[in-house]
Amino acid sequence: MYQILLILHSLNRWLVLMSLLFTIYICWQGYRSKKVFSGFDNTARHLTATISHIQLLLGLYLYMISPIVKFNVAEVEGTALVSEHLFFRLAHISLMVISVVLITIGSAKTKRAESDQLKFKTVLLWFSIALLVILIAIPWPFSPLAIRPYFRSF
Ligand code: HEM
Repeated sequence: MYQILLILHSLNRWLVLMSLLFTIYICWQGYRSKKVFSGFDNTARHLTATISHIQLLLGLYLYMISPIVKFNVAEVEGTALVSEHLFFRLAHISLMVISVVLITIGSAKTKRAESDQLKFKTVLLWFSIALLVILIAIPWPFSPLAIRPYFRSF
């Protein structure tokens, strides 16, 4: 179960990133060209929020069963700034929960925004900040915080 969740959580990170980038891009285009906030834009907003919620659920489940979170295993001397245990136990979960909250608030505010321009602006602001936080908190192969592969396979 742990391996399956880890693979799904790793793969879904690409969906989170692609949906965020795509929605930010179309909203930037819409805002610049003063377009109407269409059904397509709205679906992209909704889908992006849903994908991030799925990632949150996968992450929470992983958090409960991960040996890295449970045990502070002594690590081989490395260049990481924090131990993997601390990173996943505190930093990763906090930053990622914050980013999903930002996406959720942004998504809800967009629904209530009165003008099309304001809808585009709201998505742009909240989703961009969330993207930045996510990029920092992902354990990239080049991250100084924790190192994980780009892809995991079954
Ligand atoms: C947008 C949100 C998130 C993204 C993009 C993300 C991304 C990732 C990535 C890329 C990994 C490395 C997977 C691998 O080893 O191949 C990872 C690991 C992990 N994530 Fe997340 N994550 C997110 C949210 C969360 C949340 C909210 C939690 C906890 C509630 C969480 C808990 C974990 C844990 C525990 C691991 C490491 C498990 C282990 O190695 O044993 N993640 N995450």
